[in-house]
Amino acid sequence: MTETLFTNIGQLVSPKPGVQRGAAMRDLTIIHDAAMLISDGVIRWVGPRPEAPGVLQEHDLGGVAVVPGLVDPHTHAVWAGDRLADFEARVQGVPYEEILARGGGIRSSMQATGAASVDELVALARSRLEALRASGATTIEVKSGYGLDFDAERRMLLAIRDLQAEFSLVPTLLIHVPPTEGRAEYVHAVCHDLIPTVASEGLASAVDVFCEREAFTVEESRAVLQAATAHGLGTKLHADQFHAIGGMELACELGALSVDHLEASGPAQIAALAASNTVATILPGATLHLGLPAAPGRQLIDAGAAVAVGTDLNPGSSPVFSAQLALALAVRLNRLTPAEALTACTVNAAAALGLKDRGALVPGQRADFLALHSRDWRDLPYTLGASPVREVYVAGREL
Ligand code: NIG
Ligand code: FE
Repeated sequence: MTETLFTNIGQLVSPKPGVQRGAAMRDLTIIHDAAMLISDGVIRWVGPRPEAPGVLQEHDLGGVAVVPGLVDPHTHAVWAGDRLADFEARVQGVPYEEILARGGGIRSSMQATGAASVDELVALARSRLEALRASGATTIEVKSGYGLDFDAERRMLLAIRDLQAEFSLVPTLLIHVPPTEGRAEYVHAVCHDLIPTVASEGLASAVDVFCEREAFTVEESRAVLQAATAHGLGTKLHADQFHAIGGMELACELGALSVDHLEASGPAQIAALAASNTVATILPGATLHLGLPAAPGRQLIDAGAAVAVGTDLNPGSSPVFSAQLALALAVRLNRLTPAEALTACTVNAAAALGLKDRGALVPGQRADFLALHSRDWRDLPYTLGASPVREVYVAGREL
């Protein structure tokens, strides 16, 4: 067993382990002049350096701040083609939903992705995942959802499985937009064919649905998520992105791991969420890129909810290739404090994926951590457009 003592940590900064709700999201532990003992990829001890146990191998971190590795709980990192023409149209006033209703947007990504092989999808996604990891993301959720048919959905999930050899990924089956005809048959087949197949092949940990006027109704979403539960998979929901049509309430009622977006959530939705065990995942990159109202992050925390932050990396609504930037944007756009944003991007983001073994720098957790360039951890939420992350460690190994 190789033990390494990381020493000369100017500040070791961590939320408490496990999901944190409301005001507890601000409760960080900060140890000055700290050390951290790691063996077999797991944290064994943290504390002030003078109290550290003696070990053979030491690694001097040079006095900088250390924080937990970030968890990105919401990405669509596998896609082919691009959405550059959509972008140009949107910035000149054509709404995202109108582009989708005309058969563009997500549907155009489905055409390109459906035509790509597993190997092509792996190659396209790899560089995006490398960018996310360099930004500090040590665990990344990746959704399917650009498959034109079930075969294409499966190819996306196979690409994610291949990439798990290089990255720490959590795969989600996303039921994204319905076919223009035969949607009842489609939903039936998702529940009775696609979900059982994906569950039996172990290709996804959870199922997500885009519940929205231009996508699936609440009742269709309910049927899909109930099928997911029946097959032992976790559930998540894209809800209240453009309209609060009942998606948030559905996610809470069904005990989903997370409900994501929430830009259109009002007081009733915030109250429902605060009374549930579902994590609220907010996605400031989509707010910035689409120029839409921000999700009510401040109000959700004040109401006592557990908030997580993700990049939502995707070609249409959030070309954000940095988990650190998502964290920094949540402070500006959703009015989280720096401490809340760190909790949202670590333990709460892990909880949104059903993971309890990472996100905090305490004994027993996986040794995922970031050494920053700075001696003050607040450079992490502060910096825009350059990386404050010097090194990324996953399970105790520098990558
Ligand atoms: O989370 N809103 C639905 N799905 C994605 C966008 C996907 C796309 O535009 O390609 C999202 O924003
Ligand atoms: Fe999304």
